[in-house]
Amino acid sequence: MLIQSGIDFNIPFVVLDPDAQAPCSGIADFHTGKLTDFDTVMNFGSSCDILTIEIENVNTAALKELVRLGKKVFPQPEVIELIQDKRTQKKFYLDHGIPTADFILTENADQVKANKHFLPAVNKLGREGYDGRGVQILRSEEDLSKAFDAPGLLEKLIDFEKEIAVIVARNEKGEIKSFPVVEMVFHPEHNLVEYLFAPAQITVAVKNKAEEIASRIIGKLNMVGLLAVEMFVTKTGAVLVNEVAPRPHNSGHHTIEANITSQYEQHLRAILNLPLGDTRLITPSAMVNLLGEPGYNGKALYKGFEEVAGMSGVHVHLYGKKITKPFRKMGHVTIIDHDLDSLKKKVDFVKQTLKVIA
Ligand SMILES: Nc1ncnc2c1ncn2[C@@H]1O[C@H](COP(=O)(O)OP(=O)(O)O)[C@@H](O)[C@H]1O
Ligand SMILES: [Mg+2]
Repeated sequence: MLIQSGIDFNIPFVVLDPDAQAPCSGIADFHTGKLTDFDTVMNFGSSCDILTIEIENVNTAALKELVRLGKKVFPQPEVIELIQDKRTQKKFYLDHGIPTADFILTENADQVKANKHFLPAVNKLGREGYDGRGVQILRSEEDLSKAFDAPGLLEKLIDFEKEIAVIVARNEKGEIKSFPVVEMVFHPEHNLVEYLFAPAQITVAVKNKAEEIASRIIGKLNMVGLLAVEMFVTKTGAVLVNEVAPRPHNSGHHTIEANITSQYEQHLRAILNLPLGDTRLITPSAMVNLLGEPGYNGKALYKGFEEVAGMSGVHVHLYGKKITKPFRKMGHVTIIDHDLDSLKKKVDFVKQTLKVIA
């Protein structure tokens, strides 16, 4: 999706990805290699003018060396390092007075178990968790057997009213601009986004707080690029930061069709030090993640594609991943509609009709 957007700016892309079948393998100068390997990243980066990274699990020592050699690397390796670990992220929020759920750092399962007074809580892996895979909700003592036996943290379970996200961009000149707040609805068991609405149905006070927090974080990080800030809105209207991601994000996919500037174009503008684009929403919109249907593993088939593609205001994105697995992100659907009720009906129809099976 970043490459799609970059074509409009006439930018040639070179890509490094560990998966030879990666969705972009056919549309860019594509190289297969391990992102965590120093030499691989160095060799790859030496041929580029500007590097950007869409995953946190990358060799930051190599990226720092590339900066030393004069390459532009955005987001900066130091920012990636800070965000790579949910533990250092949480410490950053504390140090900068950014509201976040109370937490305890834990080194192993025994330390989680020793803190049962902290329940109900959420046990998170420090590193390498994504799409809910490094997150366990521990409601009572019986759940303690699920504790992660690796460095992580134990965070108070927030009885939130809503989960929202703000995507904010900053260029090298220091200009900062955020996208309108979106409201995310998570899968009840798998802790990953099932669908989202934009704009979020929140009070002006919550909206202002969320945008202010997102701008403050990207400013304090001195980051260049795009930062997605996931937040909880509590029942009393407080806004707490959950986590951040330094890249285009699932909570911004709808911006391709629904906003004047997409998150991908904004990311390019930020890293190229261009003026940031107008982020206004053109029309209310929703985004439904197309997840691998449970019970199916193997070559992906898309059921209901024509029915969904035939609806007005509906745009299907298939990522071209060959193999489907339960809950794997295989694509997404953007739906736009001026009428919120009709938007919600279309969301339900899309969720019921379009299925990825094998
Ligand atoms: N402290 C918390 N209280 C309540 N729910 C939480 C808490 N932390 C995480 N969750 C739920 O789990 C989801 C995934 O957690 P998150 O830390 O964002 O991990 P990931 O890196 O997998 O996105 C959140 O979006 C939210 O639905
Ligand atoms: Mg998250």
